[in-house]
This record gives sequence, structure tokens and C-alpha cells, in this order.
Amino acid sequence: MQSLQSLIAKHQGKVIDRWSSYITKYESLFAHKQNDNVKFCEIGILNGGSLELWNAYFPNAEIILGCDINPDIQKLTYQSPKIKTICGDINGDDTIKAFDKLTDKWDIIIDDGSHRSGDIIKAFANYFPRLKDDGLYVIEDLHCSYRSEFQGGLYNKFGAIEFLKKLADTINFEHWEISINRTDYLDNIFNEYGCTINEDLFSQIFSVEFANSLCIIRKCKPDGNILGKRICVGTEELVDKGRTLNHGKFLVPLSIIYNEDNSIDETTRTMEQKILRLQNDNDLLRRTITNSLPEDELAPKFFRLQGYFRDLEAKHKELTEKYNALLEKNSH
Ligand SMILES: C[S@@+](CC[C@H](N)C(=O)[O-])C[C@H]1O[C@@H](n2cnc3c(N)ncnc32)[C@H](O)[C@@H]1O
Repeated sequence: MQSLQSLIAKHQGKVIDRWSSYITKYESLFAHKQNDNVKFCEIGILNGGSLELWNAYFPNAEIILGCDINPDIQKLTYQSPKIKTICGDINGDDTIKAFDKLTDKWDIIIDDGSHRSGDIIKAFANYFPRLKDDGLYVIEDLHCSYRSEFQGGLYNKFGAIEFLKKLADTINFEHWEISINRTDYLDNIFNEYGCTINEDLFSQIFSVEFANSLCIIRKCKPDGNILGKRICVGTEELVDKGRTLNHGKFLVPLSIIYNEDNSIDETTRTMEQKILRLQNDNDLLRRTITNSLPEDELAPKFFRLQGYFRDLEAKHKELTEKYNALLEKNSH
């Protein structure tokens, strides 16, 4: 088997344009698939050299596909019949149709296309569903997502990097203490670019890994993505006794209080949501007022709003007491 490093060192032919740290990362990411009949796809091929590289790296590949919007890629020809190209906008309907004609599921997809946040997010929404169960989706050159000309910026809430950070949250969905679903959590970003993915797809995200300018999203069947049972084995407990009693138990998220029949107690849950919302409203109000007003306007406004805060806090206290009483009742 040839390493990517060695293949790059002796590469002639069509030009490849990549960063060295990606090559190191790809060696470890792809090594276990190197002998497989992979279906590999790269979005954005420019001079087309990388397709020759992937074709040499995966000797048993079934297909090495490159997609590019630049019509000049039609000049590219390859000796290997396994290498194919599609010319078009990666998120265009015709391009998606052309992809589906080739195969329904891919092993590896690398997005090295326009690097604009909208294109990256839309491509993820379009092509993550087209990955195999254990597939890898890689996004390159995310340094662009800190730059405004690529619809990015450190504080840009619609930037690709922001989307991916939020995607990382969705992996821990079962531990969220508020009851919103994953699609809703990313809704504002999806809406900005007119795309979405459904809950079922979210549950197939095993990991979101970040490296310099790279993000790797690993797909897995939903049952491989849960926290699982607690493992507490061994016989000596010299520091903290009773741990082994937890062996085999699942973590029950705080926001889910089960009845005896294991269904969610809606009263309890609604109560908890109300409390959280009140807390959030209160915090948000305080922050907005203190951050946005000049000092001379702050005092009178703050004074007027103090009454509102007091009501809010009283309501919060009342709900918390009711909620704790419910919890107490549920635990017996
Ligand atoms: C950074 S270059 C790709 C470099 C190439 N992967 C390599 O290793 O040499 C980005 C490519 O993405 C293509 N591109 C830009 N927007 C695109 C889109 N919406 N759909 C498909 N390709 C796109 C550009 O035409 C360009 O050739």
C-alpha cells in the first residue's frame, strides 16, 4: 500500500493544491478504507490532479468522482475509467441528479468547493444523506469561514464554522435540558440558506471533529451514537463506595422524568420548560439593558424594569417550588 505522502512526493500529471496538514490527517482517517471498493467524491477539483492522487491511493476504488462548477473541467481527461467528473454547481438540481445516477451512497465526500458558508451548509444538507452508514464527510479550508468574503466571521452566526460548532452540540442531544429538537436548534442557519436536514439524519452523526481548517463528520447508525450503559466493574471501592450499583444503568437526562410506565411526565416537563424560559428571559433582559444603554439612560430604565424583574423572579420561585415538589413526588 502506498502512503499519500509518497504518492504526493512522486506526483507528476495534473496539479494538486492542498495543505500539508490535511495529508497527515487523511493518512490516519482513510487508512482503514484504503483497500476497500470505495466510492469517493471530491467537491471542487480545479486542475483535477487530486482525482489522480485518490485513484492511486485507493487501488480498489469503485469510483473516484470530482465535481466542479468551472466548465473548463470538461477539458480534463483521465486514463482510469474509474475517475469521473460532473460539471455543475454542487447544490444544483441537475448535479444532484447526476450524482444519484452514479450511486446512491458514498464512502467519502470531501468538500473543497467554493468555501462559502452557504454552499458548504447546503452541500452538507444535500450530500450527508448520500453517505453510507459508516461514511466520512470532510470539509476543507474552514479558515475561509472566518472571512466575510466567504460569508464568514468569528461572530457571524450564519458562518459555516458556527453551523459546525452547533452540529457538535447535536451529538449530545440526549443530554440537553430543554426540549427543542435538533432541526429547530439549527433552524436559523438552515433558514438563512434555504435548506435543512431531518431529525433522523441528526441521529446518524457519530462525531464532529475539528482540526486546523478541517472538519470531519462521521456517520453511524443511530444505535451506535447513544451514550450507552454505565460500566462500573471491579470489586474494591476504597474511595467512593456504591459505584458498582450503577453498573448497567442508563443516564436519565434531568429534563426527562419518567413515570412508572416510562412515559414522560408532561406536567413536570412543561413546568421545567417554563422555569428555564423564565430564567433565560430574565438573564437576557438584564444583559440587553446593561450592554446596550448609555449610563444616564440606564438608571431610570433599570429602575422601571426592577418591578418587572421582581415579578419574574417571584414567578420563577413559585414555579421552582412547584417543580421541586413534583420531583419529590416522582421520586417516591
Ligand atoms: C480550492 S479549489 C479545489 C482544489 C482541488 N481540490 C485541488 O486539490 O487541487 C476550489 C474549486 O471549487 C470549485 N467550485 C466553486 N464553487 C463551486 C460550486 N458551487 N460547485 C462545485 N464546484 C465549485 C471551483 O471552480 C474550484 O475549482
